[in-house]
Amino acid sequence: MMKLACLVLLSLLFASAVAKNHVLLGGWSPIKNLNDPRVSGIANYAVTEHNKRSGENLKLQKLIKGESEVVGGVNYRLTFTATEGSSSDEYQAIVLEKPWLHFKNLTSFTRVHA
Ligand SMILES: *[C@@H]1O[C@H](CO)[C@@H](O)[C@H](O)[C@H]1NC(C)=O
Repeated sequence: MMKLACLVLLSLLFASAVAKNHVLLGGWSPIKNLNDPRVSGIANYAVTEHNKRSGENLKLQKLIKGESEVVGGVNYRLTFTATEGSSSDEYQAIVLEKPWLHFKNLTSFTRVHA
């Protein structure tokens, strides 16, 4: 009986430690399928929206990495290359989407310095 109580207590402690870590790390998890049309749609939106705001004319080249986080909506953190004229650079964009409200916003767009 004592042993069982100990086990239960230990697993509770472990579960709360995991939950806490999750929050501290911001809860980003990798997107496995970068070819998902939903993900490329978000990337295209990020580049188009960035161009609209900045007056630049970047073209999405290739998605390199994607992560998502659930935060009263879904945050997408995407890394990709984009070209402007003949030069190619790496960028990271964060897009918040609330699909049930048809809401999307580009919250961050930065050049990644290699
Ligand atoms: C979209 O994100 C930008 C940058 O974080 C913010 O300034 C702006 O208020 C947001 N727009 C909406 C509609 O939430």
